[in-house]
Amino acid sequence: PETGSLSIVVLGASGDLAKKKTFPALFHLYRRGFLPPNETHIFGYARTKISDDELRSRIRSYLVNDKEASPEQLDDVAKFLQLIKYVSGSYDSEDGFRLLDREISLHESLKNSVEGSSRRLFYLALPPSVYPSVCRMIKTCCMNKSDLGGWTRVVVEKPFGKDLQSAEELSAQIGELFEEPQIYRIDHYLGKELVQNMLVLRFANRFFLPLWNRDNIDNVQIVFREDFGTEGRGGYFDQYGIIRDIIQNHLLQCFCLVAMEKPISLKPEHIRDEKVKVLESVLPIKDDEVVLGQYEGYRDDPTVPDHSNTPTFATVVLRVHNERWEGVPFILKAGKALNSRKAEIRVQFKDVPGDIFKCKKQGRNEFVIRLQPSEAMYMKFTVKQPGLEMSTVQSELDLSYRQRYQNVTIPEAYERLILDTIRGDQQHFVRRDELKASWEIFTPLLHKIDEGKFESIPYKPGSRGPAEADELLEKAGYVQTHGYIWIPPTL
Ligand code: BG6
Repeated sequence: PETGSLSIVVLGASGDLAKKKTFPALFHLYRRGFLPPNETHIFGYARTKISDDELRSRIRSYLVNDKEASPEQLDDVAKFLQLIKYVSGSYDSEDGFRLLDREISLHESLKNSVEGSSRRLFYLALPPSVYPSVCRMIKTCCMNKSDLGGWTRVVVEKPFGKDLQSAEELSAQIGELFEEPQIYRIDHYLGKELVQNMLVLRFANRFFLPLWNRDNIDNVQIVFREDFGTEGRGGYFDQYGIIRDIIQNHLLQCFCLVAMEKPISLKPEHIRDEKVKVLESVLPIKDDEVVLGQYEGYRDDPTVPDHSNTPTFATVVLRVHNERWEGVPFILKAGKALNSRKAEIRVQFKDVPGDIFKCKKQGRNEFVIRLQPSEAMYMKFTVKQPGLEMSTVQSELDLSYRQRYQNVTIPEAYERLILDTIRGDQQHFVRRDELKASWEIFTPLLHKIDEGKFESIPYKPGSRGPAEADELLEKAGYVQTHGYIWIPPTL
């Protein structure tokens, strides 16, 4: 691994994303020894004029719960916070960024001047509207010092635009300033353990290889549900809606991993080439394969317009035009304020031909990858009901992570992804052409929604969403299994 001074700059240091995700992820990396204190310095940058200590105390409560923490943890928190320095300045003038550069350079000069000792990571925990100006400032004032070696990288977070055109504009603006290998577009779903497991599962197991196609698979569902609404984020959310917030990025990335062909190797470019290919094979979405919903009460949020038609729920069927998948619907579904919180990929197989057990009605084979909570994979299948009679029953082969890997703490998505940015591994980040291909799929539909050509159907908070979505699911070929529920095992 590289050594030498490492400067991590969190821009938008007092915002929600930084406090809830970025700093806690950095803290966990620190605790695991990935941010050695003799090399690392963390800089918070934002407009507010506050002191180092004020920033530290704002972050602190997100790192540790004083009542539950052990003395070692408290000690770690204190040491970690000492690595953080605050610089205030605006996002579009050089003064602040020159000051930032001086602080970083000072830190670099204090560390041993070894090759690669000017490593600079800029994490933009900011609204995308300021990405272009912030990137310009970084490029003008804060690049790594070439005589010291190292690198400069920028990390950006969605929303990358609102449609194909705005996303392309943003990409072009950033692309003028930085090369693609310097740009890390985060989709935090790519940092989740079971999402990362997808390639291994598909391509390292003989079980799946011959089955993973239209001959055997009837339909695939990729589902995201939350049991809470847009609390406190209504203003942001209303500008985007559930398709831009969840489906076009998080669920589409899962779709890629399920549907893509085997990459030539694990090199990031090889993997991303395959993702782009499958995205480009997606057919235009049909109007009658879309159901939108909005939960009742969503518009009570004072930051949401009274007549908003923004969907908080959507089911969209994607169809892939290639040899492997023709005719297989990929049903992407996401909703806020539903009856449960979970994310899963559900692969449903076709019926057994020539069924001699008359068990068809009991349900089909399904392979489910539960991304969260209670990470698991289970195969739902038919077995003989134990006992004297020859009858059948639905059961499962269950790999529940908490039970199987009892001594392993599954790292948080952001933690893993930030480590990748430091190591320079872009495998789990979205490439520019991938982003473009994903917007191409959804832009026509999004424009129709924005023009009011699609109504969001009201649904009750705490429900399954609009009944029309279940009807669409059935029409697409999904067969629900009645009388069988997988229950995550408790320890
Ligand atoms: C974010 C969305 O990207 O993902 C949020 O903006 C959503 O609306 C969140 O709540 C869900 O992430 P996770 O990791 O909790 O499933």
